[in-house]
Amino acid sequence: MWDFPIFPKQASTVASSVDNLTLFILSYNVLITAGVFVCLIFCAVYFRQRHKDEVGEQTHGGLLLEISWAVIPTIICLVTFWWGVKVYAELVVPPADATDVYVVGRQWMWKTQYPTGHKEINTLHVPLGKPVKLTITSEDVLHSFWIPAFRVKADAVPGRYTTLWFEATVPGEHRLFCTEYCGTEHSRMIGKVVVHDEADYQKWLTEEAEFGDALQGRKLFTKLQCVTCHAGESQAKAPILEELYMKRVPIGFDKGSPTAPGTSVLVDENYLRESIRYPSAKIVAGWQHPSIMPAYDESLVSEDDLFQVIAYIKSLRRGQTPPRIEATTQPRALGAPQGK
Ligand code: CUA
Repeated sequence: MWDFPIFPKQASTVASSVDNLTLFILSYNVLITAGVFVCLIFCAVYFRQRHKDEVGEQTHGGLLLEISWAVIPTIICLVTFWWGVKVYAELVVPPADATDVYVVGRQWMWKTQYPTGHKEINTLHVPLGKPVKLTITSEDVLHSFWIPAFRVKADAVPGRYTTLWFEATVPGEHRLFCTEYCGTEHSRMIGKVVVHDEADYQKWLTEEAEFGDALQGRKLFTKLQCVTCHAGESQAKAPILEELYMKRVPIGFDKGSPTAPGTSVLVDENYLRESIRYPSAKIVAGWQHPSIMPAYDESLVSEDDLFQVIAYIKSLRRGQTPPRIEATTQPRALGAPQGK
């Protein structure tokens, strides 16, 4: 079959409105151009010089003709204007419940940032059938953000936010481009939009967000010297934290009192939080009370940081504890271990 698509596939709610308007403009342009050429050829043939001494006849006026070439184009222009305003309004006014995603262009990449704080390069993950609003800017020169399948495009202007919105209707991957010449590697400033269905999007958001937090948490884990005692080897000075999340661990002391044999606790976020803020609250069986671990209170680990440390501990798999650096000393702020 002959397959020659004029437009890219339609993958957003506004795509068909944009295509219909474009087709309308395209079709009357083709018709007018064709009409001009038909008249031209007809006149050239019909009014040709038939005898050597033939002279052209002068005519003046032609009221019907003059009215029609004034009125018809005016109507066409007004219809185009009215239709254009309608589609433009559809394109520029995002629904109030649209998800915000921030986009920064720079030579030569697109950086995207989600409400969760997670960031990506040259990739945009969006939910299917939900409005998404992009707020776009540039770090250096003019770029232009374009998703052909969605029929949306907006310039990325340094020092200014531009916005566009869309609601994706086709799951899967679509291409995105920089569509304004911005330097030598302009043509490589391309990427993809990944459209997930709702459940898939939530899953992606959670996983990616936790992964992002976990990465930050790993830095804190070494910075706060956690790794000095919670090392990966068996002779570590504190329990190994790998693959601990949502497991039950046996407890030897609960709030200072020895526990009945077989007592255990579920390692969830709250247990991890308690053990960081109040290390002596629940002591793992086999370890002394009070804990030698200092209490990491608000002055040492903010709530934000704590989320990240916990996300990191949740993500820790067997053998992933970073190597202990013997040269590192305890941060001065921690002072002597508590409870000595
Ligand atoms: Cu950025 Cu072209």
